[in-house]
Amino acid sequence: MKKVGLISIALPLTLICGGFSNDVKASQTESEKTDATKEEKKEDMERTLAIIKPDAADKADEINKMIEAAGLKVIAKKTTRLSLEKAKEFYEIHKDRPFYDSLCEFMSSGDVVIEVLEGPEAVSRYRTLMGATDARKAEEGTIRKAFGTDNQKNAVHGSDSLENAAKEISSFFSDEEIGG
Ligand code: CMP
Repeated sequence: MKKVGLISIALPLTLICGGFSNDVKASQTESEKTDATKEEKKEDMERTLAIIKPDAADKADEINKMIEAAGLKVIAKKTTRLSLEKAKEFYEIHKDRPFYDSLCEFMSSGDVVIEVLEGPEAVSRYRTLMGATDARKAEEGTIRKAFGTDNQKNAVHGSDSLENAAKEISSFFSDEEIGG
């Protein structure tokens, strides 16, 4: 009788505890899943550098509305005029291209608005929003279609990779200016 009594107590207890611990396991798994999703989302978050060029600096408000509408946040911004030296340094990768001198002169010809954008897949998302380099070929709905003129006066610049984005951002903004 005692054994039966023990079994009759122990079995339901085991089921209850087993069930409970399974529930805990299940809920841990769910929370682990949520954490993993959060991690993935965090990993998707990127930063990119945007420059609103001298031909479109006065359209910065409209361009920023397009940026925000595309799901990207402007987390740092400065309006400045690039020296010829700074423009040459920034576009050094193009130094052997025939348009290099003219591009650098243009980039230092007036105010530019330099911004750090943040959001999911910010690099590619912003490049899509900018449109084709040659504004004459830019797709409808893009910044360059709306505000650019040609290959050089193409309204905006955007980093072409995550690696270059980090370099370009640090060449214009300190960590404090971005907010950590
Ligand atoms: P940006 O995104 O700032 O990156 C390099 C820049 O070089 C590009 O935009 C254009 O402004 C400029 N560029 C590229 N190709 C040409 C070209 N064929 N003639 C003049 N400028 C160009």
